[in-house]
Amino acid sequence: SPIRLADYRPPAWTVSQIELEFDLGIDSTEVRSRLHLRRDPAQHVPLRLDGEGLELIAITLDGQPLDAHAYRYQDEVLEVEGASDDSVLETRVRVRPAANTALEGLYLSGSREQGFLLTQCEAEGFRHVTFFPDRPDVLARYSVTLRADRARFPVLLAGGNPAGAGELPDGRHWARFVDPYPKPSYLFALVAGRLEKIERGYRTADGRDVKLVIWAEPDVIDCCGYAMDALERAMRWDERAYGRNFDLDVFHVVATHDFNMGAMENKGLNIFNAKYLLADPDTTTDDEYRGVEAVIGHEYFHNWSGNRVTCRDWFQLSLKEGLTVFREQQFSADMNSAPLKRIDDVALLRRAQFPEDAGPLAHPVRPSQYSEINNFYTATVYEKGAELVRMLAGRLGSEGFRRGMDLYFDRNDGRAATLEDFLAALGSANGIDLSPYLAWYAQAGTPQLSAAGRYDAATRSYTLTLRQHTPATPGQPDKRALPIPVKLALFGPDGRMLPLHDGAAEQVVVLEQDEQSFVFPGIEHAPVPSLLRGFSAPVILDYAYAPAELALLLTHDTDGFNRWEAAQQLAWRAYAELRDGSGHEALSVWGDTLAGLFDQDGLDPALLADLLTPPGEVELAERETDVDPARIHALRQALQRELAARIGAHVLAGRYRTLEAQASDALDAASQAQRRLRRRVLELLVLLDAAKAQALAAAQFDRAATMTDRLAALAVLVRSGAPQAAEALERYRTRHAGNALALDKWFAVQAQIPGEPALARVRTLQANPKFTLKNPNRVQALLGTWARGNPSGFHRVDGEGYRFLAARLAELDALNPQVAARLATAFNGWQRLEPARREQARAAVAELAGRRLSRNLAEIVGNMLKG
Ligand code: ARG
Ligand code: ZN
Repeated sequence: SPIRLADYRPPAWTVSQIELEFDLGIDSTEVRSRLHLRRDPAQHVPLRLDGEGLELIAITLDGQPLDAHAYRYQDEVLEVEGASDDSVLETRVRVRPAANTALEGLYLSGSREQGFLLTQCEAEGFRHVTFFPDRPDVLARYSVTLRADRARFPVLLAGGNPAGAGELPDGRHWARFVDPYPKPSYLFALVAGRLEKIERGYRTADGRDVKLVIWAEPDVIDCCGYAMDALERAMRWDERAYGRNFDLDVFHVVATHDFNMGAMENKGLNIFNAKYLLADPDTTTDDEYRGVEAVIGHEYFHNWSGNRVTCRDWFQLSLKEGLTVFREQQFSADMNSAPLKRIDDVALLRRAQFPEDAGPLAHPVRPSQYSEINNFYTATVYEKGAELVRMLAGRLGSEGFRRGMDLYFDRNDGRAATLEDFLAALGSANGIDLSPYLAWYAQAGTPQLSAAGRYDAATRSYTLTLRQHTPATPGQPDKRALPIPVKLALFGPDGRMLPLHDGAAEQVVVLEQDEQSFVFPGIEHAPVPSLLRGFSAPVILDYAYAPAELALLLTHDTDGFNRWEAAQQLAWRAYAELRDGSGHEALSVWGDTLAGLFDQDGLDPALLADLLTPPGEVELAERETDVDPARIHALRQALQRELAARIGAHVLAGRYRTLEAQASDALDAASQAQRRLRRRVLELLVLLDAAKAQALAAAQFDRAATMTDRLAALAVLVRSGAPQAAEALERYRTRHAGNALALDKWFAVQAQIPGEPALARVRTLQANPKFTLKNPNRVQALLGTWARGNPSGFHRVDGEGYRFLAARLAELDALNPQVAARLATAFNGWQRLEPARREQARAAVAELAGRRLSRNLAEIVGNMLKG
């Protein structure tokens, strides 16, 4: 039975203090816990604690061993009778880290001989460690003592400040950590094993000396320097941008190769998927470097948005995640190029979140019910949640938003808060009622915004009419109007901005009803409107631009994001023309305009690369019914071939050579931009003159000084079916055999082979001895890339792709339900497939649903069939 937001009750029992002692071992770890309990005087219910898979060894209440009839442990709950309003409960339990393949609670990363122990507790992993009211609104002070064999576990870490360490008999040792800040159980963490470190001193703006320590296994400790620099940048940035300082004496960060998600913000002891921490020029791409910087920032920023102010319940997850993604986006924009960051983020939103909002898994940013909370760490909660914070920040302006955030942190420090608390603080700091924005948190589905303009030459006034409509989503048939801020500017026929009546260049209008008109007086020409600048609201905009108007915006808009958006809109139209055989007006305008920009001076090569990239296959499919992914792939290739032809093979090859001559292995923005454009040029050239481009790619692969250039070349060879591909793959494999993250990319690049041949390759690779269902990164690299990132490869018309995935999901589910459930979202959108594929997909999902599945996978598969 699902958990509902409407059923929230404050905890009947809270814990003011917990003392934990671990006797750590790989096969068996003993956990002693002392809970200082308090009952809510208003609630008369027995003490109930969460606990999953715990072997109970001993239990005492206020020092007295409990009789067998005084407690009961069943159905994942420990119920204890006779607890007084202020009692101390002690338990001893055994857990089995090496047998824990779900990577939730205490588990082993790596081999029994060399690996290390660590925990992952968000959302509900702590109940796999000990008995506890495992919910985020129970905040306790933690004192943690770790004991282990010194030779096998020389490093012992937990969150908080160090509070002693020493020797024990028989080659064992101990270490204690005390966290002065009360925290929810999901922020508890420990790490134990043979780890190396790099260290740096840091003085916070408010004068605290903090030791920053990054830990990793010995073979990769040399790849942690970039993360350390990024951490320092993030800490400085949060001091300046939000006035937030770090609050412990030491900050630990640990890298592991075995992790279900990206990273985890445990108080004082962040744990990272190695993919988002390790970086080195020979194995890390430019995009991955930016990923490390972003995730380091994200987890660090959680120290305030998540830890000091946490969530009352898991329905409020976006309170910390949406806000922290937004803060991370601001940080990345400040460290790199703001328009490029915005383009990346919106492209991600469209690729990952819009399909979620439009399919059977649609849920509001604040869901109203769930059966397994781990299924709600979604693009909607994270990315759409960040868009909602961005809208609020836009509404308040940067000073007003800062005032609101100061008040939010101030009012809620040490509390478990709600989204209402967030909106109330932002609003009351600014004397504004933001409660209308709550509807955005409660309503699923992407609003469709249609806009139409009318210019009256006689009165020199321009009227913009906006209308909104949100399609029904599962369980939410009726939608209401949302406040939609539309940032806009008007352009004259010569591409210059027309001043608005108050002289401003841009303005924000807020659509609050189903339909509203806005009048702009004193406009000298019939304008071309630049709407939703910077993507000011997460909606799908429809405006009947003429292709020439889009070309004007693509050439002249001063908003970098909207230039790209104009290119996207043109490409969408060009694609539709090709698909429907309905002429080539947009196609010509799109191709010719981009060809014209191709060697324009002063245009950032990275922006040019993005302008030259049409919407992806997933985004194109979003606007269609009876989706045929093979056809979409072919059409998108044809579209790009048209673009390449309009630019010309000669020009493309010339630009490639210029970029090659400038190539460097530096990481600065200009070098990254050159690599990005060089890749794009090669991808276009291969569509025009395959042999020539493949020869260039093979040479680039040979000489590449960075992983970015090497992988770009390899991808072009592999995806275009080049004769050089097999040898390049083999050389890559040999070169990077010892590096897990580089090898993941070897799997992923092959999982991207388009069309029917993909499955045979995936089958071969899953039989490779280096493939394992036990490692989430490897699963994502091969199966995730194929099923979630390669539509033409996954959606075979014979349904073999669906059956293959369903079989892997059943195997994976027995090992790691969280990863299985995430991979199963590959079936999202199956209802909109063309009939033959639709039936095959439905049958595969239904067959899977008939098996015994984890709660995680059962919920995803069940919703998939309901929608
Ligand atoms: N809070 C983590 C973050 O920074 C995500 C951890 C989620 N883990 C999970 N098993 N659901 O985004
Ligand atoms: Zn987060």
